[in-house]
Amino acid sequence: MNDKRKRVVIVTGASSGLGNACATHLAKKGFVVYGTSRRPDEKNRRADEFFELVRMDATDDDSVTSVVDYVLAKDGRIDALLCCAGIGIAGAVEEVPIVEAARQMDVNFLGVARAVRAVLPSMRVNGGTVLVLGSMAGLVGVPFQAYYAASKFALEGFVDSLRMEVGGAVRVALIEPGDFRTGFTAAREVFGLAEGGPYSEAGRRAIGGMERSEREGSDPVIVARLALKLLDARRLRARYSVGPWGQRLAMALRRALPRRIFELILMAYYGVPARNGASK
Ligand SMILES: NC(=O)c1ccc[n+]([C@@H]2O[C@H](COP(=O)([O-])OP(=O)(O)OC[C@H]3O[C@@H](n4cnc5c(N)ncnc54)[C@H](OP(=O)(O)O)[C@@H]3O)[C@@H](O)[C@H]2O)c1
Repeated sequence: MNDKRKRVVIVTGASSGLGNACATHLAKKGFVVYGTSRRPDEKNRRADEFFELVRMDATDDDSVTSVVDYVLAKDGRIDALLCCAGIGIAGAVEEVPIVEAARQMDVNFLGVARAVRAVLPSMRVNGGTVLVLGSMAGLVGVPFQAYYAASKFALEGFVDSLRMEVGGAVRVALIEPGDFRTGFTAAREVFGLAEGGPYSEAGRRAIGGMERSEREGSDPVIVARLALKLLDARRLRARYSVGPWGQRLAMALRRALPRRIFELILMAYYGVPARNGASK
C-alpha cells in the first residue's frame, strides 16, 4: 500500500517516448505511478527507478482489466489515467492490408476505449481524470498515414462523447501532440510502397519527411509538463494542442484557409505531387 495522500495514476505506453516522459515526471512530482508495457521485463529498466512498470497489452481486454484490478487492489483508487500507448502504421490506403489497418485501430482507438472502460467504474464513484494522447493527425489527415490519422480522428469523437457522458464525475481531455522525438519514428511500420509501384516515390518522400520532422521535433518533457498542469487544473478544456510552434500555427490556420489550399500546403510540406499523390 502506497502513501494514501499521493495521487495514483496509470500511464499506458510508459516504456518509451511520451508515456515514459509523463510517467517519470509525475513520479518525480509525487504521484504513485503505474506505467504499462507489453514487455516490462525487457524494456527501459530506467523506468523502475521512478515507477512500477506492469505488463499490459492494449489489444487484450483481460490484460487491461487486470492492470486496473491490480492497482485498485494495491491502492484502492485510481485518480488519473493517461493513455499514451500507440503505434504508427504507414503506407498508401490501397496498399496497407486491412488486417494491419484493423490492428492500427485496435491499439490506438480500442486500446484507449478498453482502458477507459476499465477505470470508469471506480472513477465514477471516486472522481478522476482521463487524459488521452490524440495527435494533430486527428485534426488533419496526413498523406500515407490514413489509418493512423483515422485512429486519432476516432479519439476526437470518442473524447467529446465521453466528456458529456461522465462530465459530472470524471474530467476528460485530449492532448494533441505535433511531432516529438520519441521511439515512435523507429517503431513505425510501413506497408507497400514497393519500388516501381504507383505510390513508391511520393509515399517514401512523405514518410521520409515525417521521420525527419519527428527526429527534429519537440522534447517529450513538454507533454509531461502539460499532463501535470492538467492534472492540477480545476477545469479542463476538451483539447490541448502541443508541439512545435509552426505546427500549432498550422492547426490554427487550417480553420481560416479554404480546405483545398490547406491540403495543397500540406502536400507540398510532405513532398506529395499536387496531381493526386500517386506516381506512375
Ligand atoms: N511522437 C510523436 O511525434 C507523436 C505525435 C502525435 C501523437 N503521438 C502519440 O503519442 C502516443 C505515444 O507515442 P510515442 O511517440 O511516445 O511512441 P513510442 O515512443 O513508440 O511509445 C509507444 C508506447 O506504446 C506502447 N505500446 C505499443 N503497442 C502497444 C500495445 N499493443 N499495448 C500496449 N502498449 C503498447 C509501447 O510499449 P511496449 O512496446 O513496451 O509495449 C510504448 O511504450 C501515441 O499514441 C502516439 O500516437 C506521438
